[in-house]
Amino acid sequence: MDNLNKVRKNFGQRASEYRKSSTHGNPVVLERMIELIKPSSEASALDVATGGGHTAIALATSVQQVVAIDITPEMLTEAKIASRQEGISNITFRVEDVHNLNIPDCQFDIVASRFAVHHFSDVNKALREMCRVLKPGGKFYILDCSVIDGEEFEKEINHIELLRDSSHQFSYSPRLWNQLLKELPLTIEHTSLLKEQYELPLWFDRMETARDSRDKIFQILKNLSAEGKTHYPFGENYITTYRFEILATKN
Ligand SMILES: C[S@@+](CC[C@H](N)C(=O)[O-])C[C@H]1O[C@@H](n2cnc3c(N)ncnc32)[C@H](O)[C@@H]1O
Repeated sequence: MDNLNKVRKNFGQRASEYRKSSTHGNPVVLERMIELIKPSSEASALDVATGGGHTAIALATSVQQVVAIDITPEMLTEAKIASRQEGISNITFRVEDVHNLNIPDCQFDIVASRFAVHHFSDVNKALREMCRVLKPGGKFYILDCSVIDGEEFEKEINHIELLRDSSHQFSYSPRLWNQLLKELPLTIEHTSLLKEQYELPLWFDRMETARDSRDKIFQILKNLSAEGKTHYPFGENYITTYRFEILATKN
């Protein structure tokens, strides 16, 4: 099965879990995004891989118009339910693949995407598409799963993510993000590596991770180097993770 079909299958079956997810709907994290972007009330925004719609809804309360795209139709259905529940009427929802956006150049004042880049099979192409549809001077915002710099973590933590979700492609460390960003027509305003904890078994249950994959994940964490154990503490009820946040302006 190719990656797009894996994404559609994995997210299609669990779409409502993502709409209801307190991780994705965390108001503190969403407010931080709005504070960083500082959207103007006349702005138009694109939310790439909207999932349960949390990013689109947060943006919609601050800007004039939002287009929310996702490759998984069931996700868009959930995002529409969420926006209706919030009384939001300025979001247009469309099925689109970020790698080939059916959108002319330089359309949006803001292009944002949260918790999705790690699913993109051709990250360079996807990021170029996101930049292409952004107006010069427009704001580019990304928040995604990340890993600590270094070959051990780039390999082992991505293995953990793949065991949890077969549609996972790659979580980039800050050093790999910096290489990706250098290729884009962007001026970087802010980057930040944020340490987080995921509650277990909730994080596994959201993706219905198989029992043997859960065991393998704990085994990988137990086998990390001494340095790895300081970066990735874990217990029965939690696992440590990192996120990378980017705010940039299009040149
Ligand atoms: C974890 S959810 C996104 C969460 C959401 N952005 C938020 O802020 O809560 C990941 C989403 O990425 C979408 N996705 C994955 N690959 C995609 C692609 N190539 N194009 C568009 N959407 C994609 C999936 O369908 C899924 O809905």
